[in-house]
Amino acid sequence: MVPLTFLWITFYNLHFIGQCTLQVSRIVGLPSETVAQSIRAVPVHRKHESPDFQLFVNSLLDDSHADANSTVQEKAQKLASKLNCDTVISEIGADRGSVTFKVHRDLLTKTVLQKITQDGPRFGLNTDLLSRIPKGKTIVEFSSPNIAKKFHVGHLRSTIIGNYIANLKEAIGNEVIRINYLGDWGLQFGLLGTGFSKFGSEKELRDNPLEHLFNVYVKINEAAEQDENLRSSAMEFLRRLEGGEAQAVSLWTHFRELSIQEYAKIYKRLGIHFEEYSGESFYREKSQHVLQMLRNRGVLKEMENGTGVVDVSEGQDMSTYKTVVRSDGTSLYITRDVAAAIDRKEKYDFDEMIYVTDKSQQTHFQHLFKILEILGEKHSIRCHHVPFGRVQGMKTRKGDVIFLEDVLDEARTRMLQNMAATSTSKDLEDPARTAEKIGAAALIVQDFKGPLMSDYHFDWDRALQSFGDTGVFLQYTHARLHSLQGLWETKDLTDFNISCLQEPSVISTLQHLLRYDEVILQCLDDYQPRYLVNYLMGLGHLANVAHLALPVKGSTPDVAQARLLFFNNVQMVLANTMKLLGITPVTNM
Ligand code: ARG
Repeated sequence: MVPLTFLWITFYNLHFIGQCTLQVSRIVGLPSETVAQSIRAVPVHRKHESPDFQLFVNSLLDDSHADANSTVQEKAQKLASKLNCDTVISEIGADRGSVTFKVHRDLLTKTVLQKITQDGPRFGLNTDLLSRIPKGKTIVEFSSPNIAKKFHVGHLRSTIIGNYIANLKEAIGNEVIRINYLGDWGLQFGLLGTGFSKFGSEKELRDNPLEHLFNVYVKINEAAEQDENLRSSAMEFLRRLEGGEAQAVSLWTHFRELSIQEYAKIYKRLGIHFEEYSGESFYREKSQHVLQMLRNRGVLKEMENGTGVVDVSEGQDMSTYKTVVRSDGTSLYITRDVAAAIDRKEKYDFDEMIYVTDKSQQTHFQHLFKILEILGEKHSIRCHHVPFGRVQGMKTRKGDVIFLEDVLDEARTRMLQNMAATSTSKDLEDPARTAEKIGAAALIVQDFKGPLMSDYHFDWDRALQSFGDTGVFLQYTHARLHSLQGLWETKDLTDFNISCLQEPSVISTLQHLLRYDEVILQCLDDYQPRYLVNYLMGLGHLANVAHLALPVKGSTPDVAQARLLFFNNVQMVLANTMKLLGITPVTNM
């Protein structure tokens, strides 16, 4: 027989639970897998020690069970009284309708710490609970700014939320394709084409493409308001572009390429990359195929004004319809999105596709999915829109947010100032780079704290506080734990004395780690990053309490070794979870 300890080490969650479930399944006469699904780790309590796992009696026993007349607490008590402690379980109780279990402390410590050492960055991600989720190919489309227009806060939110969703999907074993769908077509290019010959400078374009194109666009917009000729010349440029006229197309390509290069640089500052820079322009011609498909199905209705519409109402009674073609035959935003979805299915054969934009586009995506459904595109059901609310009050010293770069610069500058004001952050090799990472963490945490759909008011001072639930706090905690690295004499993560790690602050931290996969599962359900942020804040606070209570310096070698190993593992989980959120942990600050 394989020694039990070996099994616990290999699948710690499964086998802690395994012991409870075997007994329970015998008593209630249900398969142990079913029992396991009703067991969860208990959230850590601030004031008193909690049990480790709980079995929700209500979700396990339905009313057909014998004692249907007892209260859920009575059922839990009855079940608990029939169970015996063993080499894994040291205490069994009943609490508010669940049977509670406490694992032997030395076993808990040993198993969790060994599991972290063994799994490293995969800790908590390959558990039984998460292995039940179907895996596949996921497209996440996010950020998607419009060339020559403002990169507003909505784009910033889309960028960081989309990146987090992509990371999450990747972490549980999906193949992920990140697509940036640029607004790179439409009248703004007609205006830009005309505007560039009037206000443009090739040098400024090369030096600072995003800003220059934006400035030209603003100027030509103003000028065109007063000048009918400019307006018709913009329309003329757009027609040339639509017609594929070489000179117009070459200028457009030039604008597009320089903008992408610049964007890629800024995304890199956030540690974000894309597998594909796509854009509306790709789907100008394919939109015509979409129109043909709609015609073939007999669902494209011609209106009196010459436009073509599709009935997107639930009852197919034309109570809601969507224009898909203008009277001059050109496509619209929605038409290009239909074409893009069909094209991506052909190109990637994805299992699911997630679009991340602000909530003002909710109806747009409902209509998009409806049209795909009408077209018989079965994958439409695996397309989701993740909407988010508005941010008010995000200003930089330059004023309103116009460029992503400005926000990152502002966060960095403010953080540098804060760092200079505290005596702790001296002797940094590259203070600006560190400030940048901390600043980005602050932005991300501030944004991820609440429900995505809520609007919120942004406040630099609040986001950059070093205490409370902020990104700065997380970075401090991580750096502090990381600094313990210097205390290792010889780093050995396999050899430690468990009896040196029985303090309450260790136990509650480890208990918190037992819930890791449950939190990930919750995030996968509706993509809300706040579960993970809360969890991480909890971990940070527990780690800080433990750090204060358990000094390494001045302890006996056995105790020091055990504590170092504990902190090392907590720091690893902290770092990996921060990375999931899109935060780059700093090791010094
Ligand atoms: N460029 C658009 C905007 O700034 C967002 C694109 C969203 N994605 C899509 N497939 N429509 O509003």
